[in-house]
Amino acid sequence: MQRVFSGIQPTGIPHLGNYLGAIRNWVTLQKDHDCLFCLVDMHSLTMPWTPEALREQTLGTTACLLASGIDPTRLYNQSAVSAHARLGWIFNCVSRLGWLNRMTQFKDKAGKNRENHSAGLYVYPNLMAADILAFHATRVPVGDDQRQHLELANDIAQKFNHDMGVEFFPQIEGLIPPNAARVMSLRDGSKKMSKSDPSAQSRIVLNDTADDIALKIRRARTDSEPLPSEEAGLEGRPEARNLITIYAAMSDKSMADVLSEFGGQGFGSFKQSLADLLVETLAPVANEARHLLDDKEHLLQVLRKGAERARAVSDPIVDEAERLVGFLR
Ligand code: TYM
Repeated sequence: MQRVFSGIQPTGIPHLGNYLGAIRNWVTLQKDHDCLFCLVDMHSLTMPWTPEALREQTLGTTACLLASGIDPTRLYNQSAVSAHARLGWIFNCVSRLGWLNRMTQFKDKAGKNRENHSAGLYVYPNLMAADILAFHATRVPVGDDQRQHLELANDIAQKFNHDMGVEFFPQIEGLIPPNAARVMSLRDGSKKMSKSDPSAQSRIVLNDTADDIALKIRRARTDSEPLPSEEAGLEGRPEARNLITIYAAMSDKSMADVLSEFGGQGFGSFKQSLADLLVETLAPVANEARHLLDDKEHLLQVLRKGAERARAVSDPIVDEAERLVGFLR
């Protein structure tokens, strides 16, 4: 059975992009794969944070993942499993500065103020490679924005194997959904939907109420043209394309089918149908997440048990990696 690994930063409530790009696929994959899903709290220190918010958001994200249908036995938080940090350090010494300099996500996040960002933000992709390879996972379900990081992970694995003269780390393959791999902001169709966008109107989050969802979709930016009947008509209309993409992904229909249903209509009735569709799937998730958050001790227990299982898989792999690089025990 293929081993699957994926992670999410507990830096805020997961949004519709996280859901369609990752979480929903995790729920499907866990049925017939050996899966591990990780709240990557160590990655969350790469941007400014407060301890209290990190604790709260780790539990909040845990509740959303469980409410979305993630199997509790597969879930844990990264910092509780030392294999990540141990292999992360080795990979810091395998990865090349030239490779890291090409990472577009670092450039986006650091912006113009590069010198003032943490070293952690720069070496983040090395830790991400360690997250996956500490489990010898070969399948990684992610959104489109993680593609470059997965390529780097393969370069690191290959260089480690080459330098140590072994075939120890496997090559990994990203599982990127054909639809909605990059959900865009509801306020600006040229920007990715993101937890860090200052506007809460730009994203639907997994604890929004039915009213919140309906309002955000009603206010979502559009243009003044009616919807086209064919995909070619979405050219140069990023906001319309985004809403159609979301509808198609949520209803498991093709873009062509959605456009043939709504083509020629204005946005009003389409937005109403889209809001209904989102509410139908997401409102029960939000309710269940709120319910789960009433028992924080239970959520902690879930993470502790998950970490135990993750240690049992990753410790022997990282022990062997350490032996291969020459560490004595
Ligand atoms: P993060 O926390 O930013 O996002 C979690 C997952 O959601 C996907 N995603 C999106 N998909 C579609 N549209 C969007 N607007 C959107 N925004 C986010 C992401 O692609 C991701 O799959 N570096 C990772 C976390 C990580 C990881 C790993 C993932 C750390 N180690 C190992 C896989 C394997 C991140 O910051 O994801």
